[in-house]
This record gives sequence, structure tokens and C-alpha cells, in this order.
Amino acid sequence: MSSSDEIRDRRSAVTALIALLAGGWTAGVALLSGAFLSSPRRAQKRRDDIAVGELSIFGPEFQGVRLRIAADDGWYERVEQQTVFVRLAGNGSPEVFSGTCTHLGCTITWNVGDRVFTCPCHGGLFGPDGSVKGGPPPRPLTRLDASVRDGIVYVRFNFPAS
Ligand code: FES
Repeated sequence: MSSSDEIRDRRSAVTALIALLAGGWTAGVALLSGAFLSSPRRAQKRRDDIAVGELSIFGPEFQGVRLRIAADDGWYERVEQQTVFVRLAGNGSPEVFSGTCTHLGCTITWNVGDRVFTCPCHGGLFGPDGSVKGGPPPRPLTRLDASVRDGIVYVRFNFPAS
């Protein structure tokens, strides 16, 4: 075998080794991507009913309730604190608004005398129907789905898949 043949064989061997490593790397990336994209936790969109309190403690005036909610964004589980405002509508069913201002997320309060929700951060005002009555909030308060089971009021939060 001539020296030029040896050099050609070595080049072929090195080329084959590089192709093998590149193929392995590509397969590894594809496997990891598939595992990431098909993860059931990531694909899951959680809709949880959170107990707010006994129906009997609520009346026609809004009452603020502070909740601790376990949230899962697909990678981390954490506990969020959320305030909701609950009252009983004319038909006795619970009406619930998120207590988070739609401007920059401060927690609102219910002002019984003026019959408005007020935001302490930038003066946002919301009516008892959640509509914007003043200040910078761009949209109404978020109305939350509520239900009653066995005398307990539940609200539903939607945790979007990330
Ligand atoms: S955060 Fe409520 S008005 Fe700005």
C-alpha cells in the first residue's frame, strides 16, 4: 500500500468518525426535543376548582377572600396568593371577581360606601359589575367561574400551559 493510499484511508476513517459523531449528536437533540415537546406536564392546561368558603358566610356585599393556590407552570410548582371578591347575586348564586387590578396587577379593595373597587396603586376604579369606572386599567376585572357543591363555594382558575 502506498503512502497516498494510507492517507486516503485515514481521511476516510476520520470522515466516517465525524459523520458518526454528528449523527449521534443529531439523534440526541431529536430525542431531547421530542421528550420536551411531548411532556404531559407541559401539555397539560390545569383548571382547578379552589374552595373559597361556605356559602352561608357570603351575602349581597362583596367580601374579599385571600387564597393560597398551588400553581404548576409545567416546570415548577409554586404557591400563589390570590385575592378574590365574592358576593351572592339576586338569585343566591355566587358572583366572583379576581382581586387583581387589570392595569399592573395590584390588589384592589371593595369600597362599600362608594360601591366601587379601588386600586391603591394608580387610582383605578371598577364598578360592582367589574367594569372600568376610572383610572388607567385597560379592561374590566376578571370574572371567575364559581360553583357550589355541598354548601361550599368554589372558584375556577385557569393556569395556562407555558
Ligand atoms: S395597578 Fe391598578 S391602577 Fe395601576
